[in-house]
Amino acid sequence: MIPILILLGVLGGAKAGLDFVWGIGVQQGYAPGQPIEFSHRIHAGTQENGGHEIDCNYCHTGVRKSKNANIPSTNICMNCHREIKKDSPKLQPLRDAVASGKPIEWVRIHNLPDLAYFNHSQHVKVGGIECQKCHGEIQEMDVVEQHAELTMGWCINCHRETQVNAEGNAYYDKLLEMHKDKTKEPMTVEDIGGLECAKCHY
Ligand code: HEC
Ligand code: HEC
Ligand code: HEC
Ligand code: HEC
Ligand code: HEC
Repeated sequence: MIPILILLGVLGGAKAGLDFVWGIGVQQGYAPGQPIEFSHRIHAGTQENGGHEIDCNYCHTGVRKSKNANIPSTNICMNCHREIKKDSPKLQPLRDAVASGKPIEWVRIHNLPDLAYFNHSQHVKVGGIECQKCHGEIQEMDVVEQHAELTMGWCINCHRETQVNAEGNAYYDKLLEMHKDKTKEPMTVEDIGGLECAKCHY
């Protein structure tokens, strides 16, 4: 354990120093402009709000099955925009990208440092947590903004407070039984090891 702590300390110090010098740390409220004025409200929002209620998974195809949620490729956009608003000037960069075969260079908003490990399917599929819990009301945003702090304390607090979603998950039956023998408190992510350094740090 000690070498990991030292390594993390060194990396942590270096990162803090670099962020200070370059001022680049990604932050809460960060909402950069994008190469296309893509609106989540129009695509994923409710009809009352002028939206088309497209499911998050339709575009973020990895979110239930892998670590990364993924940003959709131009093919997914063209499934609709070959027909819908096909001459819109706002979609010119999309048509250019398709013609040249180059991907659109979306500006990344949420970005953990390399030393931390986060897995979407573990939280969304296994944990049963809604996107909005971590990302805010994305379906109401015309421009995506970072809702949560994304700090270590933010991860840890939720692991302390949140009950494990053990229903219909045979893997947890035994753990739950052992937990009930010890205490009447609900079984949280902390109880399954969610505060161990090595779970989140390689
Ligand atoms: C029609 C496709 C589409 C749908 C549907 C969609 N998104 Fe997105 N999403 C995108 C695109 C394109 C981007 C990158 C541009 C941007 O940030 O606006 C993005 C970006 C994001 C980001 C920020 C990624 C980053 O860089 O950190 C989050 C978070 C996100 N979407 C969550 C959601 C959630 C939650 C839903 C459902 C409520 C959803 N999206 C529905 C296409 C979509
Ligand atoms: C499932 C269908 C669907 C997909 C997939 C989709 N869109 Fe759309 N998009 C729409 C609809 C519907 C509208 C609203 C059209 C209207 O206002 O009449 C729209 C509107 C837009 C507009 C505004 C156009 C204007 O002139 O006002 C932009 C820009 C846009 N989409 C970009 C994208 C991008 C980029 C992607 C891929 C990441 C994408 N869309 C994927 C259905 C889709
Ligand atoms: C428990 C919190 C949490 C939940 C729930 C969650 N996300 Fe994320 N999301 C994050 C974090 C943290 C990152 C940054 C990951 C990184 O930098 O490695 C992120 C990044 C993203 C990104 C940027 C691209 C990527 O793959 O890293 C997209 C898109 C995204 N999330 C979409 C979604 C959608 C859609 C849902 C719901 C189906 C969702 N997220 C649920 C915490 C969450
Ligand atoms: C909204 C609450 C919430 C937030 C915020 C959150 N998590 Fe989690 N996390 C959970 C839940 C619930 C589980 C349990 C999922 C399961 O049953 O396997 C979990 C499980 C994990 C696990 C697996 C733990 C184990 O013992 O198997 C890791 C690793 C993890 N989270 C990392 C992170 C990181 C890194 C962040 C911050 C960037 C984060 N989480 C933020 C709720 C959260
Ligand atoms: C639930 C996930 C999680 C657990 C458990 C966890 N960390 Fe972290 N840790 C993170 C995340 C996410 C970051 C990046 C936060 C940021 O950039 O603000 C981080 C950052 C760090 C940093 C670097 C700080 C910096 O300035 O960038 C150090 C050092 C660190 N953690 C040490 C530890 C130690 C030691 C433990 C065990 C006692 C631990 N972590 C447990 C998620 C976790």
